Amino acid sequence: MVVLISGTGSNMAALLDAAKDPAYGAGIVAVGADREGTRGIALAREAGVPVFTVPFRDYTDRARWNADLAERIGEHAPDLVVSAGFMRILGPEVVGRYTAVNIHPALLPSFPGAHAVRDALAHGVRVTGTTIHFLDEGVDSGPIIDQVAVPVEDDDDESSLHERIKAVERRMLVDTVGRLSREGWTIDGRKVRFGRADRTEQSVA
Ligand code: GAR
Repeated sequence: MVVLISGTGSNMAALLDAAKDPAYGAGIVAVGADREGTRGIALAREAGVPVFTVPFRDYTDRARWNADLAERIGEHAPDLVVSAGFMRILGPEVVGRYTAVNIHPALLPSFPGAHAVRDALAHGVRVTGTTIHFLDEGVDSGPIIDQVAVPVEDDDDESSLHERIKAVERRMLVDTVGRLSREGWTIDGRKVRFGRADRTEQSVA
């Protein structure tokens, strides 16, 4: 997989850790970022993973940025793209070309967007959580694969709640990506298997 990140990269680091076990079934071929100089990039480099950046700020044209990002991803020929704390909306140039999943710190379809934890707190919910879903061209709107609930504590602020959500996210992301890579997935009644060379689609009906 290619993992896309924007910040600290703790979810990416959890995938790196899991992939040390050959039985896990998936590995990270590269990490891509929309900016330089983040902790996540440093972590990936320390682990010896190829890193590429396509800085969003260098572009005035979003479609051009998406096209360049799609090209850079393609250099690593991934079977799966994982958006793990990537804080940009991916366009058709990327999601139309790759199977991609996204992790989001709320129980979608509640609280999509860039401030999910803040928005959930402001709304006064007592339970929020995290969602992993396939990416489509909308904002946090593709088919849901898994969700885990996280209770809100009375004294939570955005940071304390987000840290508890992230601890849950890391486990869910590792579990889900491992399961997808070992077992494939079903879309519209068709079983899709992981693996570029031998990707097969077969009816499961
Ligand atoms: C995670 O909580 C992820 O769900 C969130 O950013 C954090 C990244 O943490 N993503 C979004 O909000 C996307 N809308 P990390 O960099 O430590 O993995």
